[in-house]
Amino acid sequence: MFRDRLDMIADQVGAHLDGVLAGYPDQPVVHAMRYAVSGGKRLRAFLVVEGAALYGVHPARALNAAAAIEAVHAYSLVHDDLPCMDDDDLRRGLPTVHVKWDQATAVLAGDALQTLAFDLLSDPATHADADVRVDLIGSLARASGARGMVYGQALDIAAESADRPLTLNEITALQAGKTGALIAWSAEAGARLARADIAPMTRYAAALGLAFQIADDILDIEGDAAEVGKAVGKDAAAGKATFVTLLGLTGAKARARDLIDEAIGALEPYGAGADTLRDAARFVISRRS
Ligand code: IPE
Ligand code: IPE
Ligand code: MG
Ligand code: MG
Ligand code: MG
Repeated sequence: MFRDRLDMIADQVGAHLDGVLAGYPDQPVVHAMRYAVSGGKRLRAFLVVEGAALYGVHPARALNAAAAIEAVHAYSLVHDDLPCMDDDDLRRGLPTVHVKWDQATAVLAGDALQTLAFDLLSDPATHADADVRVDLIGSLARASGARGMVYGQALDIAAESADRPLTLNEITALQAGKTGALIAWSAEAGARLARADIAPMTRYAAALGLAFQIADDILDIEGDAAEVGKAVGKDAAAGKATFVTLLGLTGAKARARDLIDEAIGALEPYGAGADTLRDAARFVISRRS
């Protein structure tokens, strides 16, 4: 039921992105963009669409915002996989963009996916009110930049050559940027579209984002590359301190479960209308890819 809904929204957002990119030049960089933005679980798009539904915003009216966050997410992955970052060959079960094309194309495709997101948000189809569009643009810029995702990625890279392992507080701050910021934007976007208070969704997303990254760290240890669709065992090979190295596998799983309870608790004000978001929280820690 939840999986069907996730897949349905994934298809809608994928078709929307295909439609947008269909009008772009027939060039390798655009082919690479299309490739990078296809596949994936589309959890962030799901959070946008379901978060919007909570406030009575029709899914069709949330598609631009959902496509925008998937474009930023895809850009972050294309750059994350580059040889100068994680140097990965496999993503979503397929060769990474710099392997299939080359590094220059991967850098440019990532750049263009990022600007595509803001192009989409500035489109009047995103929302009739320009103030709402500016709010979405500004908040996504902050979530993506040097106080958000880029901040976390920079800390993550720095940690690889640090002379001591990170503490739990440091890892939590790193994660809040690296993974948390875009997940938070996704969960809050619906409230922004409805000009509502984002606070309950901020609480939900903070716990969800942390649990999501703990699950990613666990999959790096327990997962199977064919099933996960990306290389595993990389964190340990890089000597990275993760939630698992700090809490142990059992401790990390327990922490993730507590966080999911917390995320579900934050949805209290929304009643049964938030059941799919509760399912999403459970999915985040039970997923195998
Ligand atoms: C992977 O994100 C990168 C992290 C932030 C840990 P996802 O696990 O959501 O990747 P896709 O989009 O489903 O491939
Ligand atoms: C990447 O984190 C997060 C972003 C791209 C923002 P990871 O390096 O842990 O993601 P995977 O494991 O390669 O998907
Ligand atoms: Mg990385
Ligand atoms: Mg990586
Ligand atoms: Mg990882």
